[in-house]
Order: sequence, then structure tokens, then C-alpha cells
Amino acid sequence: MNVLILAAGKGTRMKSGLPKVLHPAADKPMLGYSIDTARGLKPGKIIVVIGSGAEEVRNAFADEDIIFCLQKEQLGTADAVLAAKEELEKSSGSLLILSGDMPCVQIDTVKAFISSVDASRPAFISVKTENPAGYGRVIRGEGGQLKIVEEKDATAGEKAVNEINTGIYLCEIKELLQRLASISNNNAQREYYLTDIVASGCTAWCADDEKEFMGVNDRLQLSAASKFIWLKRAQRWMKEGVGIIEPESVYISADAVLENDVVIYPNVFIQGKSVVKSGSTLYHGVRLVDSYIDSGCIIKENTLIEESRVGAGCKLGPMAHLRPESVLEGDNAIGNFVELKKAVIGKGSKANHLTYIGDAFVGEKTNIGCGTITSNYDGFKKHITNIGANVSVGSDTQFVAPVNVGDGVIIAAGTTVTKDVPANALAISRTPQKNIEGMAEHIRKSKS
Ligand code: UD1
Ligand code: CA
Repeated sequence: MNVLILAAGKGTRMKSGLPKVLHPAADKPMLGYSIDTARGLKPGKIIVVIGSGAEEVRNAFADEDIIFCLQKEQLGTADAVLAAKEELEKSSGSLLILSGDMPCVQIDTVKAFISSVDASRPAFISVKTENPAGYGRVIRGEGGQLKIVEEKDATAGEKAVNEINTGIYLCEIKELLQRLASISNNNAQREYYLTDIVASGCTAWCADDEKEFMGVNDRLQLSAASKFIWLKRAQRWMKEGVGIIEPESVYISADAVLENDVVIYPNVFIQGKSVVKSGSTLYHGVRLVDSYIDSGCIIKENTLIEESRVGAGCKLGPMAHLRPESVLEGDNAIGNFVELKKAVIGKGSKANHLTYIGDAFVGEKTNIGCGTITSNYDGFKKHITNIGANVSVGSDTQFVAPVNVGDGVIIAAGTTVTKDVPANALAISRTPQKNIEGMAEHIRKSKS
């Protein structure tokens, strides 16, 4: 068996500069789902018919073992299959046809279809739906008569039929090419309809769940399809032992990996190739992007973690921000309004409040006081701050990088560290405090 995916359509109804099949459904380009389904069937060839935005589509899937065929003009779904004619003539066996705009299709359904139909004549998947508007209707007549009528060509009686064509077909290649040769565009849309390969003697295989066959033509349908996929993904992880409070509001990417006893509160986004290890909890509004969270972490509300690594037993947030290349080595506390960037924080170290640490290395068991910042940028270049182990950084400290602070140092609150500090020293930079007796009262009087 070979697979052909139709992906050349204009997608006019998306009203977008991006080719329709590249629009992400649940964080992944729609066409990717059809390709995954195809690949899961281990076919001889995977052919993708491209047209609108052909170069962009080709580039998006350039490193995969796909044969691209170009449909020069979008003259309809039958014409799209014929764009692969040369490739098909070189192939033998049967052809499964999928669409690039149906991301919810489940591979097990396709497998069941393939194994139950006779492909010597066209067979396709149909489904019953409450709202058939926009889809091709499956018209079954007496004595095995069968045809598909597009919405725009349907009579009122045909429009009332609620069995629709999903657009997934299986047929022997030779038979298919023969049927395609005689298709005309004599219809309401002046298009060459692939649905015209279906006639008496063909099989309409009726599937159970209409949701799988949502075709995405506009952004409302894209959102509906995404919702379906997000929910399936959340449910899949729940079956693996992940605790999800409200699966309808959790958004886990296709490439994420979670372990058992992870607990996820509503409104959490786990994006890209993120990993969350056993026993970690993600509270409301957390977003992970390509990040690794080791076991037993507590990530509190509204924390954003991008391309970073969080070691075991860390407590983050609420409202912490780990920018790319941050590494927490474990048992760290990174609290409210703390931002890290390219910072390595040694085991057991803490920065609990209102702090920026960028381009820095912090040793183990160091405490960074409230309001500390690394001045890592002098307006021209970024510079490094090195802070040792067991350092106590007083509140409102500024490290003017490049600067190095040894182990065991104590930095007094309000210090601007511009020079290296040797191990075990006290660093203090402060204007001496003056108290002018009675001055406050004097000012108050003079203003009134
Ligand atoms: C098509 C079916 C309809 C079915 C519905 C299921 C036809 C004539 N109609 O309608 O019976 O109920 O799918 O979703 O087939 N494409 C090309 N080249 C073209 C035109 C389309 O590659 O010239 C591709 C599109 O990118 C898309 C697929 O074919 O992936 C379906 O095309 P679309 O225009 O969305 O067809 P529908 O009107 O949805
Ligand atoms: Ca469609």
C-alpha cells in the first residue's frame, strides 16, 4: 500500500498568508498529523500533493522521506491526485488517500477501514453527523447504488442526508487511474471532484466518531480540531498516571514527555520537547517551552520556563521567569518576580524575591537577597558574574559584571559590587547614613 495526502488547496477560508496545511492544530502543523498517520501504516511511498504555498510546505517537511508532487493549478481533488500520476504509474498495489486538513483522524480507525474493505474498487470512509453542511453527502440508492454529491450540487432532498464523505479513500492504483481519466468538471464549482470515482459497487465504510473527521477549512474549525487533539493528549497522559485536574484546559505538545504522579492544574501549557519527571506539580498558568523539569518540583502559578533545566526538588514562582539556558542544579527556590537568563544556580541556592540574574554562575547554598541584580550589559557587550558557594547576598545588591565573588562571602545590603571579592570577605559599599535631628518637622512646616 502507498499513501497520498492532498495538501495543495488554497485554504481561502483561513484568510491567511500561511498555507492552510501549515497552520498548527494543537501546536503542530496540520499536515504533520496526516504524515504521522501515513508513516504509522508503514506504506511503500508517502506522496504529498502540494500547490498553494508549495515551497513553504516542502521546506516545512524537507527532512522527511516524502515524495512531493506539484499540482500547478488547484482544479479540484481529482486533479490533485492526477498531479501524482507519474509517481502512481510507477507504483503497484493500492493507494490510501488522506487530506492534509484533517488532523483528528485516529490511526486505528484507518487501520480498521483498510482491513475491512475490498480495494479492487474505490472504498471510502463515511460518517453520520448531525450537521452535514459543507460536506459531500453519501447517497445510497436501491440495489447497492452509491454516489457522493457535493453540497453545492445537492438537491434539497440530498442535503437532508446526514451521512457524509470524510475524504479518506482506498483503491487499487490501476483502477483508480482508470476512473480518474474519465472525470469531468461538469458541476457547480467547475472542479474535478475526486468524489466522482465513487459509483455503484464501491464501498462506503461508516465510521463511528464524527469528531475524528472534522475537516479544517476556517479558523473556527481549526480551534475545534485543536480542542479535540489537546483533550486526547491530556487523556492519554492521564492513562499513564499523570494527574490532570481539568483535562479540557491543559495543552500538552505532541513531543512532550511526562511521568506518573506529575500533577497539572488548569491552564498549563507544556510546549515543544519538554519533559516533566515524576512527582512534580505545575500550578495554574505555568508555561514550559522546550524545558526539562526533574522530579519533585513545585512550579507555582504563572511561571514561564523557556529552554531551561530545573533540577529535582526545586520550588519556583509564583511568577518566576527562566529565560533560555538557565540551569537549576536542584533543591533551589526561585520565587516571585525572579528572572534568570543563562544562569547556572548551584544546588540548594535561593533567590526568593524580585531579582534578575543573567549571564551568571552561582555556587551551592548561596542566598540571593530581594532586589538583587546582575548588571550584565554595559550597553555594548554582555559580561559574566561568578558568585561562589555559601555566599549571602544582601538585599538590593548590584553586581556590575564582569565580577567574581569568592565562596563564603557576605555582601551587605545595598552594595554595588564593582570589584572582585575574595573568599570569606565582607563586601560593603554604602554612603554613610546621616540623621539630621528635627529636619523632617522643619520641612513639613516650611511646605505648609
Ligand atoms: C472534500 C470532498 C467532500 C468531503 C470533504 C471532507 C471533494 C470534491 N469533496 O470537500 O466530499 O466531504 O472533503 O472534508 O473532494 N485539494 C488539493 N487540490 C485541489 C483541491 C483540494 O490538493 O485542487 C486538497 C485540499 O488541500 C484539502 C483536500 O484536498 O486538503 C480537500 O479539499 P477541500 O477544498 O477542503 O474539499 P472540501 O470542499 O472540504
Ligand atoms: Ca476540506
